[in-house]
Order: sequence, then C-alpha cells, then structure tokens
Amino acid sequence: MTSQDPKKSRSPVQPGLIPHEAGRNAVSSNGHGHKLNSGLFITFEGGEGTGKTTQATRLAGRIADLGIDVKIAREPGGTEIGEKIRSLVKGESNIGAAAETLLFAAARAQLVNEVIAPGLRRKSVVIVDRYIDSTIAYQGYGRGMDVDQIEVINRTATSGVLPELTVLLDADPAVMLARVDTAPSLLDESGDGKAARAGDNVKERRFEQEPLSFHEKVHRGYRELAREGKRWCVVGADQAQHRVADAIWKRVRPLLIERGVDGSLLTRKQGVPAE
Ligand code: TYD
Repeated sequence: MTSQDPKKSRSPVQPGLIPHEAGRNAVSSNGHGHKLNSGLFITFEGGEGTGKTTQATRLAGRIADLGIDVKIAREPGGTEIGEKIRSLVKGESNIGAAAETLLFAAARAQLVNEVIAPGLRRKSVVIVDRYIDSTIAYQGYGRGMDVDQIEVINRTATSGVLPELTVLLDADPAVMLARVDTAPSLLDESGDGKAARAGDNVKERRFEQEPLSFHEKVHRGYRELAREGKRWCVVGADQAQHRVADAIWKRVRPLLIERGVDGSLLTRKQGVPAE
C-alpha cells in the first residue's frame, strides 16, 4: 500500500463495543420488546474530545428506554481480538501507517462478524463509536494513506456492511484538544465519554499526542466526507450536551418510525415535539 495525499474528490463510501452500563456486548431494552421491522446501523464520528461516546451512549439509552433492542460498540474494540488490537494501536508502539490501517480494518472485520451483522440480523439498532470514516479521516487525511485503498480494504473487512446514519460531532480541533490535554482527569470523569473506556490505559494516548496539524487534517477530512451524502448528520460539538442529543434524536426518530415504531410513542416517551 502506498502513502500519498488523499484525493480531493473520491467515490463516496456508502456506507468496536462501548462498555455500556450493562456491560460489553450488551443488548439493552426495557423489556417491552418493541420489535423493529429491520435493523438500523448508526455510527458516530469526530475528532478527539468531541463527546462521541457520551452521545452514542445517550442515544442508546434513549432507544433502549423504548423497549427497542440496541447494541453499542466502540472501535477499535468490541471483541476479544478487537480489544487486543486497540491496545496495540493506542499504545506507545512504533506502528507504521500501513500496518495501522490494516490493524483497524482487522478489528473492524471482527466487529462486523461478531457484533454488527448479527445485531442487524436480529433487527436491533446497532450504534458504533467510529467506523470506516475514522480510517479515512485519520489514516487517509491525517497520515496520507491512499483513500481508495482504504476503501477497498474496508469493503473486504466489512463485507459491505455500512451505516444508514453517521453522526459527525464537529468542533475546532484546537479547542477540543485543549480540553483533553489540560484536564487529564477528563479521561476518567468528564462525561465526555472517556469514562466508558473500561480497560483503557490512560497512557495510551498516541493519537491525542499527535500535533495539532494532524488533527486539523483529520478535521478537514471529516468535513469533506460529510459533504458527500445524506447519511451524514453534522452537529456542532461545542454546545450543551442536551442540544447535541436533541439534534441527533431529530435525525434518528424518523428512521425508527420508518421501521414501524409508533411516532406518538417516541414523542410521548421522550418528550420530543412531533415534527
Ligand atoms: P479512543 O480512545 O476510542 O478515542 P476517541 O474517543 O477519540 O474515539 O481511541 C481511538 C483512537 O484511534 C482515536 O484517536 C482515533 C483512532 N482511530 C484511527 O486512527 N483510525 C480508525 O480507523 C479508528 C477506528 C480509530
């Protein structure tokens, strides 16, 4: 695989487990057993410190409260092999960009096989914190790996399993990095989602320690990706968490209605005004 500048114009990519309150690989519901007529795959993307994990967990909780099966995962991770790969790629190792790209793809392949595809077959909502777009943004735009090759590798890794909705939590990387850097305790307590990273070594911060210029390239990559299609929901991350959550819910709600969930149930239970 060659390393080069990512292309400005590229073919669109159509499109891990977060330890949830109930533990890894948790399928949550309130027991009402509301069955969707098909699965729904949602991914979360964004730079460091943008609060993806908090929002992904919050969305999962909201859906679970309706009695709908929901599975939440993180990348890299979410499987035994994926968690091992997570330690490798996040640790203080000397992994080259090509190996890094392939390791993320390997973890993803395992997650699709063990978690995402089975969840979708069971007609659950599957929420994943980072997916193919992370590799395009970080290894493609950030490290300069060829974006077309990343897409080919990931088509193989995922068997073409792609999200219907991708939430991009968008924020100035300088602001977000300052948040992460100046408050190491954020890793444990901030509510920015880091608390959910059971098993992570706080020293495993290889990406956070990249220079600002790297994170700016990643940010530019995400913005370019998000211009490509309607699967994207771009939300400013630098605002109150409940506002971010409401903006995301506004996009998720119709997808649940399409899958047979009564809109008035969503409105009544969640207090979200009907559209
Ligand atoms: P994580 O602690 O999960 O950070 P975040 O809260 O930002 O998701 O660490 C995952 C790191 O791995 C993150 O810095 C982004 C990086 N990453 C890639 O570079 N490529 C990928 O394909 C994925 C999934 C993650």
